[in-house]
Amino acid sequence: MKLGVCYYPEHWPEERWAIDARMMREAGITLVRVGEFAWSRLEPEPGHYTFDWLERAIEVLASEGLQVIIGTPTTTPPKWLVDQMPDLLPVDAEGRVRGFGSRRHYCFSHLGYREECRRIVTALAERFGQHPAVVAWQTDNEYANHNTGLSYSPAALTGFRIWLAQKYGDIDALNAAWGTVFWSMEYASFDAVGLPNLTVAEAMPIHKLDFQRYSSDQVVAFNAVQVEVLRALSPGRDVLHNFMGKPTLFDHWRLSQDLDIATWDSYPLGFLDLDDCSEEHKLRYLRVGDPDFQAFFHDLYRGCGRGRWWVMEQQPGPVNWAPHNPAPAPGAVRLWTWEAFAAGAEVVSYFRWRQAPFAQEQMHEALLLPDGTPNEGLDVASQVAKEIDGQTEVGASPARVALVFDYQSDWAWQIQPQGREFNYRKLVLGFYRALRRHGITIDVVPPTPEGVTGYDLVLMPGLMSVDATLMSALGQNGQVALLGPRTGSRTPAFSIPHTLPPGPAAQASLPIRVTRVETLPPNATLPVIGHERSLFEIWREVVVANEDVEILDRTEDGQIAFCARGGIHYVSGQPNAAYADRVVAHLLAQAGITATKLHRDIRVRDNGRDRYVFNHGPDPVDISEIVAGRTAILGGTVLPPCGVGRFRSVA
Ligand code: GLA
Repeated sequence: MKLGVCYYPEHWPEERWAIDARMMREAGITLVRVGEFAWSRLEPEPGHYTFDWLERAIEVLASEGLQVIIGTPTTTPPKWLVDQMPDLLPVDAEGRVRGFGSRRHYCFSHLGYREECRRIVTALAERFGQHPAVVAWQTDNEYANHNTGLSYSPAALTGFRIWLAQKYGDIDALNAAWGTVFWSMEYASFDAVGLPNLTVAEAMPIHKLDFQRYSSDQVVAFNAVQVEVLRALSPGRDVLHNFMGKPTLFDHWRLSQDLDIATWDSYPLGFLDLDDCSEEHKLRYLRVGDPDFQAFFHDLYRGCGRGRWWVMEQQPGPVNWAPHNPAPAPGAVRLWTWEAFAAGAEVVSYFRWRQAPFAQEQMHEALLLPDGTPNEGLDVASQVAKEIDGQTEVGASPARVALVFDYQSDWAWQIQPQGREFNYRKLVLGFYRALRRHGITIDVVPPTPEGVTGYDLVLMPGLMSVDATLMSALGQNGQVALLGPRTGSRTPAFSIPHTLPPGPAAQASLPIRVTRVETLPPNATLPVIGHERSLFEIWREVVVANEDVEILDRTEDGQIAFCARGGIHYVSGQPNAAYADRVVAHLLAQAGITATKLHRDIRVRDNGRDRYVFNHGPDPVDISEIVAGRTAILGGTVLPPCGVGRFRSVA
């Protein structure tokens, strides 16, 4: 467990660096990220490298015993490079070139820009790759942020055609797979295929999905260039990237395979303000953040990093980018930091060291005020540093429950929501929340046989396609599983399976057919019989089942709401919170997992011998029942607002 900070020495006079480094050390910070936006200062003119200042900054940090993560500056190509290579700029879906003047202004498909990135990263790694203070590299910054996952540029068009030719081999195969006979869209060659933007009516779902898959592959390939350089020139150092909390425009599971550590940037108050949850929920958690949102991404990125993960940027005060930017409650920043450590984070790093009085983020708080004096965040960092002092243990023991998260499904259902409110991430998060309300610790896993193996309970709502290998891994050794709604409802080529959803692979275990789908506007719901306040909302399916399928619940109109054969279950609509609780409670009981219905503000995480308890609410809560028989290491049995408890089992 270590604390870090994001630092921009190029923003401050050199005389100040030593003061900053000393203050960092005194606060208990041990890691410092530098460099990720500094290209114009590292190479002010083509080929003229000015790395001396960075070397001096690293020396100053190292002289206080601080370790350094260098961020490659490729998220900010400098003006001279954009002028030299103007077609590196991304193009939006309306066909407009997105301009210089902020950041992330490049197109992932532009091969010339990729080579420029290889060049600057090579030069940096040659200079700093073996520096004893440099322990890790961050590639770029927040891939796909600011909606940069898709670019409709000429480079993308060329790349997409090559990608399609490799995927389909000959154009007849593409025509058959896509179903281009519909509306006379048949192509005579790959060179005739365009990008799926600027069409008169909607483009084909598979055209869009293949373009999204292609675009995701470009992010992976862009990253791989840097990883290759860094591995060769900076042996023994970890390579990581800082993912985000919301955008899903590339496959993070796939990209993470090339990294040593997955990290993410956690801004709980900004995320909550941007969310479309109820006003009551927003007000209750205004200064603490949603009780489950951060935890979900901790679990997702722990999975992506195969156990190794960090919070690279942790909000320490009001941010500047949400519609409203409240201040954290006293104790909230500490709670967020401990939530991450409890979930196995190796490092929590605050963004940023000192608030910048100039430029875009002048309203974004930091550990220091713009005048260089301490702000509240620094006190929190010092307090947590004392609490974790001497505690080196990290890691997360595997959970018994897994929840599948699949980027392709998110793309597919964004392309074809069918009801405006249908959102894959919300569907998955709904089940995650229900599990957490029952005191359950969860692993988020990819939709692969290895991903789902070894758990007592696996939930895979909304998974677009299921194949026979995935299905044969489910339900092994008494494992209980949940499918639906929408699980298995499309082939990988974005067609309805010939045996109807959930498709032949799932039907081999659970013989049901989905014969109708209806979507509901926000003010319409469908009650489920026999469970108080239980409803389907947004999405519901009509399911026809074989006689050997057990019907567990029905909707008010007499259709199947929840059914099972053996351990494989299917829920045929999007449950509200009450019904998600009912479904989850049933599944947990089937899997032999003890559930504890928690107070609405309390969340629990079990990790090895430790049980962590967090209070996200405004009132003190007595937690003695959930920690009975354990020794308190941190906190007590009455948790104050923003309270953190850590309790060890004796055995
Ligand atoms: C992102 C970026 C940072 C900074 C913060 C502000 O996460 O990575 O550079 O802009 O947001 O909250």
